[in-house]
Amino acid sequence: MKKVFIVGGAGKVGRRLAHQLAERGYQPLALYRNPEQTEELKALGATPVSGSLLELEVAGLSQLMTGSDVAVFSAGAGGKGGMEMTNAIDGRGLELAVAAARQAGIKRFLLVSAFPESFRGKEVSGTFENYMAVKKLADVHLAETDLDWVILRPGTLLDSPGTGKVRTGLAIPYGDVPRDDVAAALVEVIERPAVNRVIIELTQGDTPVGESVQRLAHA
Ligand SMILES: NC(=O)c1ccc[n+]([C@@H]2O[C@H](COP(=O)([O-])OP(=O)(O)OC[C@H]3O[C@@H](n4cnc5c(N)ncnc54)[C@H](OP(=O)(O)O)[C@@H]3O)[C@@H](O)[C@H]2O)c1
Repeated sequence: MKKVFIVGGAGKVGRRLAHQLAERGYQPLALYRNPEQTEELKALGATPVSGSLLELEVAGLSQLMTGSDVAVFSAGAGGKGGMEMTNAIDGRGLELAVAAARQAGIKRFLLVSAFPESFRGKEVSGTFENYMAVKKLADVHLAETDLDWVILRPGTLLDSPGTGKVRTGLAIPYGDVPRDDVAAALVEVIERPAVNRVIIELTQGDTPVGESVQRLAHA
């Protein structure tokens, strides 16, 4: 059974991913830090793995990841703690997870990033500008590794139920996308090793998720 280690496993995307993976017969391991989420994660079918990106070092996280086949990074400070926390989680946290995955011998690494056009044309705070800059540099960091990476850039995330239909592409117009469908797209990428070393933009759309992701596979 394929093991998928999810950094940010109790997050809104992370827990949807854990649940969908468990339903497909994978073993999701969910890194989380709030003990109150333990039972919820188990109920979703995940193996809860306790640890914080603020405390773990490469060797410790690598030890937790060892034995997993795929790593997914879907953690984020979510605007809490200002720029410093965004830098620590979305930025250095990603670098930590990449280094730990490499040390654990995990080749396949998926990153949930952000759509570059997010909130363009709107008045945004310095904190948001910093968030976008950190997200981009996280993409750069992963893209410069020799891992089998995929960077997924969803539009604005919605909690409305998934439709099972999306639009994906190397460059698509900006839009929204339910978190359920982001998780579904991650599952489809995990199922398709030929979708590799590519940055995928994702919004809601008209194409079944699997079919849409399959179009991005290398021949
Ligand atoms: N909101 C949007 O419209 C949007 C659009 C595109 C992309 N994104 C990105 O998509 C990703 C997933 O979004 P989401 O809605 O699932 O976010 P979320 O619900 O805030 O999940 C982020 C997870 O990261 C975890 N985390 C934070 N600090 C941590 C630490 N020190 N150690 C371990 N885990 C930590 C959080 O745990 P705690 O609950 O314990 O803090 C949380 O479970 C994020 O990276 C976000 O930036 C968001």
